[in-house]
Amino acid sequence: MTQMQTNVDDIHRQIEQYAVTSKEELEQYRQRFIGRKGVVTELFESLKTVAPEDRRAVGQQLNGLKTRAQERFDEFTQLLDEQPDSSPAPVDLTLPTAPSLTGTQHPLTIVRQRIIQIFERIGFTVADGPEIDSDWYNFGALNFPLNHPARDMQDTFFVQKNGNEASPDDMVLRTHTSNVQIRLMEQQRNADTFRPIRAIMPGRVYRNETISARAHCMFHQVEGIYIDRNVGFKDLKDTLYHFVKEMFEPGTRIRFRPSYFPFTEPSAEIDISCQICGGKGCNICKHSGWVEIAGSGMVDPQVLLNCGIDPEEFTGFAFGMGIERITQLKYRVNDLRLYTENDVRFLNQF
Ligand code: DAH
Repeated sequence: MTQMQTNVDDIHRQIEQYAVTSKEELEQYRQRFIGRKGVVTELFESLKTVAPEDRRAVGQQLNGLKTRAQERFDEFTQLLDEQPDSSPAPVDLTLPTAPSLTGTQHPLTIVRQRIIQIFERIGFTVADGPEIDSDWYNFGALNFPLNHPARDMQDTFFVQKNGNEASPDDMVLRTHTSNVQIRLMEQQRNADTFRPIRAIMPGRVYRNETISARAHCMFHQVEGIYIDRNVGFKDLKDTLYHFVKEMFEPGTRIRFRPSYFPFTEPSAEIDISCQICGGKGCNICKHSGWVEIAGSGMVDPQVLLNCGIDPEEFTGFAFGMGIERITQLKYRVNDLRLYTENDVRFLNQF
């Protein structure tokens, strides 16, 4: 047997016995048996040293070896492809960094800011007041009778109660933002000359309610007030017509429905045509085609007196609306709890 024959047999054996378990080993195999510096190439190069009459036969053997080396390579490759890769993925430093998630604005924030924007453009300022306030600011000055149900512990969170009877010094979590209108009007008491008040007052309010899809113990309102000489009901209507036109879909209708509040006279509730069904009737508007968005009215002379403003000389209107309600209509939010659950699947939509 020639040396060449021995070498060929030897390499055949090596190839058959070879096993690879990783890409690195496969590459080692490739370099050793297939690569241009591998043993098979080497044998091809030494073909010229073989006697000319044997070259043909040896050449055929070498070709067989080469084919077999390639076949094994293909087998190994397939085997590795089928195996799950346990080696850690190589780090590609050229990849862009993972995007950092930016937050979105809460829908109530978006709507509150839009409300502020609409009113600021027509000359309203923005005012703020305490969320924990006395019975006087939350109820008394606003003309709530002593036995009014809102003064009941069932309806209102009392922080401090001075006995069974209502007292102006009882402390409550405010049930509406109307406490701020009293504080604004009161500031006039010590002023030399009356300065007209035209302000909106957004903020949190609290009521003793069981949390459900339709009620929450904490929600948001925007109060509005305009006090000056010769402010009439027409001004109230104009202002709220303007607000609805700016806030809601074009073509939204508005109606004033007579109502009652202890602190306004006359009083009206404001309905708009349902944004969900367009006024045809659905379960959001309880099939009436209308939804209530605000309470309003001319400030009761007694309330002006309570704040030291002369009702013979000054008049004004006030209104109050729920931000959750307006957001619900604008974005079709069907469950109040979504606003406070911090579910990113909800929040990401805004
Ligand atoms: N304070 C009322 C409420 O919480 C809303 C309201 C109604 C505010 C009429 C007003 C108003 O200023 O004039 O339901």
